Amino acid sequence: MAQQRMNVQSPVERLFANRWSTRAFDADKPVNSEQLATCLEAARWAPSCFGEEPWHFIVADRFSDETAWQKVLDCLAAKNQLWAKQAPLLIIAAADPVFTKNGNANRWAEYDTGQAAICMCLQAAALGLASHQMGGFDAEALKQALGMPEKMHVMSVTALGHAGDVQTLDDDFQASETAPRTRKPLTDIVHAGCWQQAWQAPAGAGWEARYQETPIESLPWFHAGLDPDIGAALDQLMPDQHVPAQHVLAQHKLSAGHILDLGCGPGTQSAALAQRGFDVTASDISNSAIAAAKQRAEKAGLNIAFQTDDVLNSRLQGPFDVIVDRGVFHCFPEKADQQAYVATAKRLLAHDGILLLKCFHKDETCEMGPPGRYDETDIRGFFANGFELVETHTSRFKGPIELQPKALFCILKRTGEAT
Ligand SMILES: Cc1cc2nc3c(=O)[nH]c(=O)nc-3n(C[C@H](O)[C@H](O)[C@H](O)COP(=O)(O)O)c2cc1C
Ligand SMILES: C[S@@+](CC[C@H](N)C(=O)[O-])C[C@H]1O[C@@H](n2cnc3c(N)ncnc32)[C@H](O)[C@@H]1O
Repeated sequence: MAQQRMNVQSPVERLFANRWSTRAFDADKPVNSEQLATCLEAARWAPSCFGEEPWHFIVADRFSDETAWQKVLDCLAAKNQLWAKQAPLLIIAAADPVFTKNGNANRWAEYDTGQAAICMCLQAAALGLASHQMGGFDAEALKQALGMPEKMHVMSVTALGHAGDVQTLDDDFQASETAPRTRKPLTDIVHAGCWQQAWQAPAGAGWEARYQETPIESLPWFHAGLDPDIGAALDQLMPDQHVPAQHVLAQHKLSAGHILDLGCGPGTQSAALAQRGFDVTASDISNSAIAAAKQRAEKAGLNIAFQTDDVLNSRLQGPFDVIVDRGVFHCFPEKADQQAYVATAKRLLAHDGILLLKCFHKDETCEMGPPGRYDETDIRGFFANGFELVETHTSRFKGPIELQPKALFCILKRTGEAT
């Protein structure tokens, strides 16, 4: 189901995530009358201007009145009919544009009817039902077919039912059904105090939202084991895995086996690193990510120091011998943030300490993914002061999704004294 949302910017109640406009309905499963009444009851409790409650609903149920249902279906736009024909319920929402108390025009009638309609759809989602509002229909034909008063404004037809098998839809619909859902960023639609004055979402709220509403294993960056690039780099740094990390790192002039999994997310890398013998600290800006990572570590009996922390304004204390960054630096396309990140990495790394950084490659053009995408020259520029770029190679991010975005993997060494 197309429930994954790509740019959630703040945590919201799960109900809002669960409602979406499905086209795949189970044609054989009716909505029982209790469920239907509950949905309509939710609409009834919508707010309205002057408490007018200007909305009316006509329910056409294929299982109890196929003739009425067919009349509504016939008035839908041809493209809507292709999928709405599976829905057991087609519900018309109409607005009475006149105030009953004084006969004046009610210019909020359509707005209020929309509020009632979304209450109905959200209640449907809360009951585990699927809904899809439509504006594509012939309103005059509908009014005639159903004997509605001329003055009524027909606002929408909502298909309501149980979610069905996506495979029953035409190919085009199947693709839109499984595509991630996107929205304009909040900054495009919210103005602070006056028109077009920039409004800022709080730092990290988007990540928190992402972790709250997406099952951890479905996050596109989820990788159950140690990322192969990180693993190979560590092998290179400590060729004998059987020797405790601390000892081998000491041989390589690193003072101890302290490793920071920066922006640890689900904590899969932290866990794998702890299993390899490192003394692991794991940080992330999202409390929910930290909670999930902690749970993972506890389940595996691993002792990891978790801390909620913003790398751009970090309270972490080093020094660390190694910092692992799998997919964090590329979240910061702004120069000021990149500089803040580099300053933190510099402060936290021991002399000769290693930063293993994996980010999206500049050549990766897929729409989905982080805003920052870099090549070797970019990385050299960002880390020109206080780091030596030891090695880079192109690679891939592997995760639960089919797409394996092109990545740049970098080994950077902290040079000079930690500041
Ligand atoms: C008033 C209104 C009219 C709509 N008309 C149609 C329509 O005719 N056909 C259709 O497939 N979807 C229609 N939609 C669904 C929107 O395309 C859908 O809500 C939007 O893409 C956002 O997707 P979501 O509901 O899954 O969040 C309509 C939605 C609303 C609110
Ligand atoms: C693409 S995910 C990668 C997660 C993890 N490294 C992994 O490989 O599974 C990016 C992570 O960076 C975290 N993050 C984003 N901005 C951050 C910040 N300013 N400080 C710390 N963590 C941040 C996010 O919460 C998210 O968990």
